[in-house]
Amino acid sequence: MVIERGRSVDPERQVEDVAEPTLRPRLLAEYIGQERVVANLEILLEAARGREEALDHVLFYGPPGLGKTTLANIIANEMGVKIRQTSGPSVERAGDLAAILTNLGAGDVLFIDEIHRLRRDVEEVLYSAMEDFALDIVVGKGPSARSIRLSLPRFTLVGATTRPAMLAAPLRDRFGAMYRLDFYGVEAMKHIVHRGAGVLDVAVQPEGASLIAHRARGTPRVALRLLRRVRDYAEVRAAGRIDAEVADAALALLEIDTLGLDDLDRRVLETLIHKFNGGPVGLDTIAASIGEESDTIEDVVEPYLLQLGFLDRTPRGRMATARAYAHLDVPYAGPAPTAVPEGRAPQRPLF
Ligand code: ADE
Repeated sequence: MVIERGRSVDPERQVEDVAEPTLRPRLLAEYIGQERVVANLEILLEAARGREEALDHVLFYGPPGLGKTTLANIIANEMGVKIRQTSGPSVERAGDLAAILTNLGAGDVLFIDEIHRLRRDVEEVLYSAMEDFALDIVVGKGPSARSIRLSLPRFTLVGATTRPAMLAAPLRDRFGAMYRLDFYGVEAMKHIVHRGAGVLDVAVQPEGASLIAHRARGTPRVALRLLRRVRDYAEVRAAGRIDAEVADAALALLEIDTLGLDDLDRRVLETLIHKFNGGPVGLDTIAASIGEESDTIEDVVEPYLLQLGFLDRTPRGRMATARAYAHLDVPYAGPAPTAVPEGRAPQRPLF
C-alpha cells in the first residue's frame, strides 16, 4: 500500500495515523457502530462480489476521526483488492493523478482523503476516469495538438470529506453511494475502548472504559488517543490498571472536561463569550483571536459543539448558546434559549 500524505486540517491526525493501523478493524464484521452505513456497505459489497464487478464509487463524509479511512481500507480488504491512498492537497498536478490512475489494477481502490481539497483542474481528470474509465490526454502543442483517450481498468474511487458541500456537483454526482458518518453513541464508544484496550494489551475496568468513552466526543480516534494517554498515566502512577479513578485523574491532567471538551474547544467558547459577548461573530474572527486556523475550528471543534447544542451558526455568525454558558459556569444574558432536543443539535443540511 502506498501512502501519500498531505497537510491535514486535523492537528492530531498525522501523528495518530502512524500508530493506529493495528487498532483499525480489517473486516466489516469487526466494525463497531455506524450501523446504517455498515448495513448499506454489506449489500454494496456482496452485490459487487456476486457480480464479480468492481465496487461502485463511494463517498464518506462527516467530521474527522469517525472512521472514513478505516472503512476505505475495509472495502479494499473485503473486495480482496489493493488500496492506493492519497489526499486532495497532495495531488499537485493533473499529471500526478493521471500517473496514479494508470498504475491501478482492475478492481483496485483509490482512496482520496480530503477530496474537497483537490484542485479544480485535477478534479476534472476524475470525471471521465470515474464515469468512462478513461483518461483524455492532450499531446503536442498549438495547431498539431490532439487529444487521445487512454482506457483505465475498472477501479473504485473511495472519497472522504469533512465538507461535502465543497465538492463540485459533477464530482458528487459520479459517486454511486454516499454515506454520512455520525458521532458514535456511548455504547459503541465503550465497545471501541474495550477493543482498543485488547489490542494494546492494557487492563481496563468497565468503569474506566466508560469514563473514557463518555469523554471522547463520540469520536473513535479521540477515544483511542485518550486510551493511550490514560494507559501511560496508569503505568506510571497506578500499576498499569485503568479503573474509573485512574481514568478520571489522567483525563483531569489532560484538561479534558466531563463532556470531553479540551483546551481548544474551551478557548473557542470562552472567546465567543468573553470577547464577543456571545456573538454573533464570524469564524475567521474567532480563529484570528485564538491563533488557530479557521479550517481546524470548522472541521474539528464546531461539529461537536453543534452536536452538544453549545453553538449556533446564524447568517450573522457564530453564537454561544445558554447551554454553553451554563457548562462554563458563566451567567447567561443573551436571547431566550431555543428548544434543542436533549444532547443533540439540529442537523444542518450538508449539501
Ligand atoms: N477502532 C476505531 N474505530 C473503530 C470502529 N468503528 N470499530 C471497531 N474498532 C475501531
